[in-house]
Amino acid sequence: MSPDKNKFITFEGVDGAGKSTHLAWFAEMLRQRGHDVVVTREPGGTPLGEQLREILLNQTMSVGTEAMLMFAARLEHIEQIIKPALLACKWVISDRFSDASFAYQGSGRGMDWNKLKQLEQWVHPDLQPDLTLFFDVPVAVARQRLANNISLDRFEQEQADFFERVRAGYHKRVQENPHRYVVIDAAQSLEQVKLQLEKIIVSL
Ligand SMILES: Nc1ncnc2c1ncn2[C@@H]1O[C@H](COP(=O)(O)OP(=O)(O)O)[C@@H](O)[C@H]1O
Ligand SMILES: [Mg+2]
Repeated sequence: MSPDKNKFITFEGVDGAGKSTHLAWFAEMLRQRGHDVVVTREPGGTPLGEQLREILLNQTMSVGTEAMLMFAARLEHIEQIIKPALLACKWVISDRFSDASFAYQGSGRGMDWNKLKQLEQWVHPDLQPDLTLFFDVPVAVARQRLANNISLDRFEQEQADFFERVRAGYHKRVQENPHRYVVIDAAQSLEQVKLQLEKIIVSL
């Protein structure tokens, strides 16, 4: 793998932070600069992963099951999509990755972080994002943005205190490994968020 030519970038943050809104635009900006970009998401990204996503977003289950299904989908995603693309010198931009498991199943639902670290170590011992953009936003702002959605999935339906814990979990991940992250002030307007992203693109 040539570390100069490929990059693995992930977008993280609570539901409603603005990840999906900005990801396509971010990828397009990179393409305009001549990079070969693969856009993908978690859970999902592969046919099996998308089937697991349907289950994960809609069916009630224990937190351990939820965590293992997330990592099962992730293993498939890494083997089928992420690693082949990086090997082909492409840039991979993923809407969520393992940080989300620590934030949601760990901090949100109370699963022991050490168990999640074991799953992470098992599923991707030698792979971490080169860069993670953490879309940080007050929970009340994120929830207000989701208020107009007609249908909310099993995660989006959670209460504010759940998202407060998820947000705190993301902050803990950032503190554990600060060099991997750029924190985006996602409470700002769409235009202001784009300006923050443009600065990152220039720095890449
Ligand atoms: N900076 C922003 N200002 C105002 N509205 C935003 C902003 N970012 C996203 N939104 C809106 O909030 C909603 C959720 O955004 P989305 O990108 O789906 O969030 P996520 O993928 O992080 O859950 C969408 O309706 C989107 O248009
Ligand atoms: Mg989204």
